[in-house]
Amino acid sequence: MSELKNDRFLRALMKQPVDVTPVWMMRQAGRYLPEYRATRAKAGDFMSLCQNAELACEVTLQPLARYPLDAAILFSDILTIPDAMGLGLYFETGEGPRFKKAVTSVADMEALPVVNAKADLGYVMDAVSLIRRELNGRVPLIGFTGSPWTLATYILEGGSSKDYRATKAMMYNEPEAFTRLLDKLVVSIIDYLNSQIAAGAQAVQIFDSWGGALSHAAYREFSLNPMQKIIAGLTKHNDGRDVPVILFTKGGGQWLEAMADSGAHCLGLDWTTDISQARARVGDKVALQGNMDPAILYAKPERIRQEVGNILAGYGTGTGHVFNLGHGVTPQVDPAHAGAFFDAVHELSGQYHNV
Ligand code: CP3
Repeated sequence: MSELKNDRFLRALMKQPVDVTPVWMMRQAGRYLPEYRATRAKAGDFMSLCQNAELACEVTLQPLARYPLDAAILFSDILTIPDAMGLGLYFETGEGPRFKKAVTSVADMEALPVVNAKADLGYVMDAVSLIRRELNGRVPLIGFTGSPWTLATYILEGGSSKDYRATKAMMYNEPEAFTRLLDKLVVSIIDYLNSQIAAGAQAVQIFDSWGGALSHAAYREFSLNPMQKIIAGLTKHNDGRDVPVILFTKGGGQWLEAMADSGAHCLGLDWTTDISQARARVGDKVALQGNMDPAILYAKPERIRQEVGNILAGYGTGTGHVFNLGHGVTPQVDPAHAGAFFDAVHELSGQYHNV
């Protein structure tokens, strides 16, 4: 860690003291930035951008050139795993992700291969190594994956979904076969995250974007349990330190106690949870990341600053808070408003540290 010039993000994840609260933003490299749209146009389609290490590195670094961010996140997508399973990921303009190959039956699920990260997703590791080299210790690099449940929804729906009808029907009708699919994803994801860590990722986030759509019992069985297996399968740094894991279940506010027992170092919160109550519930077990409503970035900078102040006050004094939005930034956001957000976090948070 010593080579890092700014390690406050990693320190907060491990609940060590920091000078000010670290901040980064989900989807910080993306369509709200004109420089992203320019590189994206140069690459052609989205997957070509992900698969070109130089361009993926370029867009990863773009928000860091503009803003005083405390972490970089690998530019890629959670759907690289289903793509590497042979499903043929593509993006239809305005339609979101789609797969060329449909997975609709138990036989289709059983036929899916386990992914070998180095062989099938080498382009991601190339991007991670290049980004680490170009970051040159400025800030830590976050690697990531989708959760098994969230990836299963994309696989069985053939893309995005509002109600997860096909996935839930499979889960309830064929729980054993569905669990075998989740297990296959667990094995693939462990290899994928460990390869990202070996290539240079200094923390990892599990995006359980659609875990909040599950019932209380189904969340534990089909989302949290597989994520727990992933965390248990991660390698440590050479010197024996844990690689910090952020577990983000969108809509998971009612399950924080169970999530805090998963082995994760930090829980990502969406904006529907009160951060002060969340802190009281998880105690000293984990750090918390979040949790400003992404829509606040449509408001004027003064209002954004006020909201940042409210969330900092809600978390209170001491370490263990990584500031973020409660979900990804949207393409319509004014880049100047994102800047006002990051500045406010650093300017207003000093009073909660070294006290
Ligand atoms: O956070 C970051 O800056 C890192 C990059 C990142 C992307 N996707 C880039 C991206 C990350 C971490 C993701 C994760 C991801 N991808 C999730 C989980 C996070 C979440 O929001 O809950 C999900 C559900 C996906 C699947 C996916 N990929 C969707 C729904 C879309 C949007 C489709 C659309 O057209 O709106 C994508 C594409 C995508 N991934 C874009 C970016 C910047 C936009 C693609 C473009 O340039 O057209």
